[in-house]
Formats: sequence, C-alpha cells, structure tokens
Amino acid sequence: MEDLGAVVWPPEPVRTGRLVLRESEVRDRAAFIELLASPEVHAYLGGPRPRDELEREMPGAPERWPGSFVVELDGSMIGQILLRRATGHRRPAAAGKVDLGYLFLPRAWGLGYAAEACAAALGWLAEALPGEPVVLTTQSANMGSMRLAAKLGFTEVERFEAWGAEQWLGMRSPATPSD
Ligand SMILES: CC(C)(COP(=O)(O)OP(=O)(O)OC[C@H]1O[C@@H](n2cnc3c(N)ncnc32)[C@H](O)[C@@H]1OP(=O)(O)O)[C@@H](O)C(=O)NCCC(=O)NCCS
Repeated sequence: MEDLGAVVWPPEPVRTGRLVLRESEVRDRAAFIELLASPEVHAYLGGPRPRDELEREMPGAPERWPGSFVVELDGSMIGQILLRRATGHRRPAAAGKVDLGYLFLPRAWGLGYAAEACAAALGWLAEALPGEPVVLTTQSANMGSMRLAAKLGFTEVERFEAWGAEQWLGMRSPATPSD
C-alpha cells in the first residue's frame, strides 16, 4: 500500500452533518493508541498492537500522510479513514487501485458515523482524483463492515482466502456525470 501521492494535502476539513474529516493532530494521539490497541476494533484485522509498544512508538501527530483522515465528533477523534493506493494487492483486480479502509472506536459504532464519514471521504476523493474506482477488502465474517460496504455502493468482485480467513473484495465504480 502507498499513500495517495499527488493530491492537495492536508485537505480543507470535510464537514458532514455531524462530523469533521481532517488531517491528524497531536491531540489525536491518545485516541489513535486506543484505536490501535483495541481487541474489538482488530477482531477481524489480525489482532491489536500492544499498548506499551504504541505508547513508545506513536509519533506526536500519528498517521499523517495523504489519504489518512481523522474523523472528529464534537471536537474528539472517533475513527480513522484510510484511502491508499493498493500497489502490491495480492488480487490483480485490486492492484494499483485506490483502497478504502475504516476503523472506528467501539463507542461510536451503531450510530451511522462510519457510513457518514466514508461517504464524505469518497466524495472528497471524487474531487481530488476524479474517475477512480475504489476497492475495499474485508473479512466476509465482519458483518458490520460488510453492511457498511454495501451501503457505500461497493459490490462483490470476488472472495478469496488470506490471513486464515475468507476475504471479500468489493469495488465501487466512479460516479458518472448523470449520477
Ligand atoms: C466496520 C465499522 C466501521 C462499522 O461501524 P458501524 O457503526 O456499524 O457502521 P455505520 O456507520 O454504517 O452504522 C450502522 C449502524 O448505525 C445505525 N444508525 C443509528 N443511527 C443512525 C443514523 N443517524 N444514520 C445512519 N445509521 C444509523 C444503523 O441502523 C446501523 O445499525 P446496524 O449495524 O445494527 O444495522 C466498525 O464496526 C469498526 O470500526 N470495526 C472495526 C474496524 C474494521 O473491522 N474495519 C473493517 C476493515 S477496513
């Protein structure tokens, strides 16, 4: 995976009805540690990272790269959206395409925040890099993620075995002028 490269970054903050999407800041560090150390968040992502390692290694302003959005609610980080270039993707259908990932703190699940934030990030991408299809890989057992992918307009390309589980590869076509 690589970052998005040639986009204007940091972006103007993206505002939705309830949320703000923006570049990470020093004040997000504790929330990033909570996110990456959470067993619940990483149940389908190969397990969490040890908290003491994160405390030691996490930079002041974490995950600052083109395509990494902090999602903020009422002034606090509740999640991260990752838009990256899937250069080394193991499935040819996804290789080189823009890839969407999302991680939200469990207390923010079940309220529609992830759907609202991802739709806004995809809208930003459509302006920043027009005409790009977007891919998404998730474990098919990750029901919340599967529901979110469908809601965002991703449709199945294929399923494959990797990392000891069945994976679902979805794709979302770029919007056409008549949309
Ligand atoms: C995947 C993940 C982001 C999904 O989060 P989520 O909160 O379930 O997703 P949504 O934002 O789509 O919210 C959906 C729920 O909010 C409910 N909801 C409540 N208020 C709502 C509102 N105002 N608007 C929309 N939906 C609302 C919906 O009914 C829906 O409930 P349901 O799941 O019981 O059907 C979250 O589970 C997560 O961070 N998981 C860990 C990381 C991960 O596995 N990522 C996937 C690999 S990249």
